[in-house]
Amino acid sequence: MQTALRTSLPETELPSRANFVPHARVVHEERTAHTGGRPLSIRGLRKSFGANEVLRGIDLHIPAGQFVAIVGKSGCGKSTLLRLIAGLDEIDAGSISFGGDVQPEDIRVMFQEPRLLPWARVLANVEVGLGRDRASSDAHARAEKALSEVGLADKRDQWPSVLSGGQKQRVALGRALVSRPRVLAFDEPLGALDALTRISMQRLLERVWRDQGFTAILVTHDVSEAVALADRVLVIEGGRIAHDVTVNAARPRQRGSAELASLEGSILSHLLSADDRT
Ligand SMILES: Nc1ncnc2c1ncn2[C@@H]1O[C@H](COP(=O)(O)OP(=O)(O)O)[C@@H](O)[C@H]1O
Ligand SMILES: [Mg+2]
Repeated sequence: MQTALRTSLPETELPSRANFVPHARVVHEERTAHTGGRPLSIRGLRKSFGANEVLRGIDLHIPAGQFVAIVGKSGCGKSTLLRLIAGLDEIDAGSISFGGDVQPEDIRVMFQEPRLLPWARVLANVEVGLGRDRASSDAHARAEKALSEVGLADKRDQWPSVLSGGQKQRVALGRALVSRPRVLAFDEPLGALDALTRISMQRLLERVWRDQGFTAILVTHDVSEAVALADRVLVIEGGRIAHDVTVNAARPRQRGSAELASLEGSILSHLLSADDRT
């Protein structure tokens, strides 16, 4: 039996789609700064594309507010899993639930490409993330607040084309944050950034996660990034979760510490041994 609890607002939505309001709610409850996360439970999740059985039975419980990183070799199904969690694709079997009803704005995804609308200024790009609340009277104020959270308040009237790659990703993060999501999924969001920009973005991600308390699911190919940011690292192999590694290191974390380096080494050896078997 499939569960139809998954709803999402894809980052790719264009204004015309974002304005499409199937169940308009007149009353908008202003969410407080720390809205908290939702738990995520996945049972017996399967997904194939034709004869290609990508996910062969994923069972996973993520407590509310946990920061989980997902690693695994290219093509193992990381993006597929995120898309299913975000409701961007249909599951074949199993269930995904968030511990109760969720609103479309509660679950958001950020991708590697910022996917900004080139014809809209920065502030309007952030407002897109409000979905059905874009028309509300406090839309500007909420978008401005999200822009400040990502350190780009002074860029509000710029066009996306004049921003650096890192700044564009921060606008994308502001757009993901503006609806105060309960679950925020990241699909290799920093993969295209240079090393220094990447580290400053990692710090920003950790800060907004700590401030807002959403449940974070980060797909990354960078194991050092995974252990630096996450409470827990999942290794996907053969369509299942092959390893579930807890990262107990205290925050703020010391990059390059012996503790993180040793965890990183053991996760890398899992990945490499998986490679040997294929
Ligand atoms: N829409 C799709 N149609 C057909 N095959 C797909 C589709 N999306 C993903 N796949 C296949 O599923 C597998 C897993 O892909 P993906 O989840 O993107 O891997 P990852 O993100 O771990 O690199 C790959 O073999 C890929 O080719
Ligand atoms: Mg992928």
